[in-house]
Amino acid sequence: MKAPGKKKSTGWIAGINHGSHDASCVLTHEGKTVVWVEQDRLSRIKYAADQSPADALFACLKFAGLGLQCLDAVSLGSDHAQLIQWLGDDPERCREVASYSSRDWLFPARLFDPSMPLPPIETHPHHLAHAASAFYPSGFEDAAALVMDAMGEDTSTTIARCYSNDNIQIVKSYSVDESLGYFYETASQYVGFSRHQAGKLMGLAAYGSPIYDLRLKLPANGNDRIWPVAAIDDKNGRLRIEKRCRQLNSWFTEAAFPYASGIVGEPMAYRDFAASAQAALERIIFTLGEQALQSSASRRLVLSGGVALNCSANGKLAASGLFEKIFVQPASNDSGVALGAAIQSSIRRYGASARPAMMNHAYWGL
Ligand SMILES: [Fe+2]
Repeated sequence: MKAPGKKKSTGWIAGINHGSHDASCVLTHEGKTVVWVEQDRLSRIKYAADQSPADALFACLKFAGLGLQCLDAVSLGSDHAQLIQWLGDDPERCREVASYSSRDWLFPARLFDPSMPLPPIETHPHHLAHAASAFYPSGFEDAAALVMDAMGEDTSTTIARCYSNDNIQIVKSYSVDESLGYFYETASQYVGFSRHQAGKLMGLAAYGSPIYDLRLKLPANGNDRIWPVAAIDDKNGRLRIEKRCRQLNSWFTEAAFPYASGIVGEPMAYRDFAASAQAALERIIFTLGEQALQSSASRRLVLSGGVALNCSANGKLAASGLFEKIFVQPASNDSGVALGAAIQSSIRRYGASARPAMMNHAYWGL
């Protein structure tokens, strides 16, 4: 009797962002992007909050004329087991996060035959997926990577060294308690915008002057503090974030008095506050850039993560001359980790030749 042979490689990998927002799918063949769809384009619900990426996956497979069984792997851009550990004493949220990796969530029966075996599922740490989404499509032979967002598992900012076409080494991480993403989102809410309207805060900053001291410190080597007050002790991660955001809010009130939090409809009253938040962010990003340069010995920088969508800060960093070249992943929100995860899995499976060519457009959708 013939022994069952190993399944022949097809070269196809689907990268997925399956977090609580920005669900997306990228279909790659031997590391090269073929099609890339965000779930909110299909559901028409902005940011696809708490939505499964299943329709995006289904649309990508349909575009390429493939079934699930044609994939060598499905590659996920977050490690939810690690996130659950970080969440700690929060059974309700832990259950919710665990459900994001279930068969029913990723491959629901309304779209995928439940009797079919699934391809191997590979998981990548969130910030590694962000870094990969910026380094591999940058075309740079080597680079420093700076990832900044609200949080990925237990981390909010990561500095990595990228080299040799297939290596990304994390050299430094900052905890969620030091999150620049939460800082900027809280500042956005302070001026009466939503946490998803950070881009408006950046625009408002251009009208003001940075006259307020928002009590942020510059991160130094060997000192991971960006906030002057130590992390809040709580076994529940979500409560730690909420307390930190409230703490930020009270600092903002102290600094920007008499402009109290959230006077809706009067954004211009906050223009100096917005400029102060933007200036604080830019100073910190410049210092993180200096750290990245020091630890990577590369004059090229790649940026990703939601904070890297702050084009004013990116522009200042580029104009500073600290780096010779900077590449910013256009999908620096979480939809981009689908790409990073797919490339990471592709290089692991097919070798360095699976590194994609330089990304010079973002027109991969349907
Ligand atoms: Fe992220």
